[in-house]
Amino acid sequence: MQTGPEDGTNIYRIAPSLLSADFARLGAEVAAVEAAGADLIHFDVMDNHYVPNLTIGPLVCQAVRPHVKIPIDVHLMVRPVDRLIPDFAKAGADLITFHPEASEHVDRTLQLIRDQGCRAGLVLNPATPLSVLDHVMDRLDIVLLMSVNPGFGGQQFITAVLPKIRAVRARIDAHRQGGGRSILLEVDGGIKVDNVAAIAEAGADTFVAGSAVFGSPDADGGYRGVISRFRSALASV
Ligand code: DX5
Ligand code: ZN
Repeated sequence: MQTGPEDGTNIYRIAPSLLSADFARLGAEVAAVEAAGADLIHFDVMDNHYVPNLTIGPLVCQAVRPHVKIPIDVHLMVRPVDRLIPDFAKAGADLITFHPEASEHVDRTLQLIRDQGCRAGLVLNPATPLSVLDHVMDRLDIVLLMSVNPGFGGQQFITAVLPKIRAVRARIDAHRQGGGRSILLEVDGGIKVDNVAAIAEAGADTFVAGSAVFGSPDADGGYRGVISRFRSALASV
């Protein structure tokens, strides 16, 4: 396993998305991906308003929390955003990200997440411009770039996002060199073993994978097999 020079954590983080897990067995599913080497649990929250799908909320986050030690990475696809943040913090979320289009006051929402003791981040849809990052870099712990339009698992990776990943990498590195904190660069949507290296080469360090992980056949080693194939692909970067 690769380790980072500063804090001993993985340079590259794999975040299986629960959206493609067996919803009747979520406790067992999160425990299984943790045992298979996952670094984060990606928890997709959809409201049938900001996105045309409906998933899981704070009660489910609270229910799965005792089944894993790794951080829970809550991706809010809801509008409005603020009302749910304290509930997710109490339910054991570690990171909370939201879409700037879904918040009336982005700076306030970021501060609210941090005040609740969680790490905070913005999610950029494929067509959201990078200018939304302009005045909030010092409030961010993570930037999540969507490589599909949000709402569903199992969609095709949009390759036009690769240059955008490079541009965000440059912004994060410049921020760090200017004395700012390190910011994770996570990519979400359509990530598979055969494209993860290109996504890492563009500058991502954290990879959400829903259908690739939870849809991996037992015959190929199940969750452990696919996560180790992700790590092998990343080792070549
Ligand atoms: C889509 C979600 C993703 C999704 C990824 O709106 O945010 O996290 O579960 O699924 P795959 O990896 O199947 O594209
Ligand atoms: Zn997501």
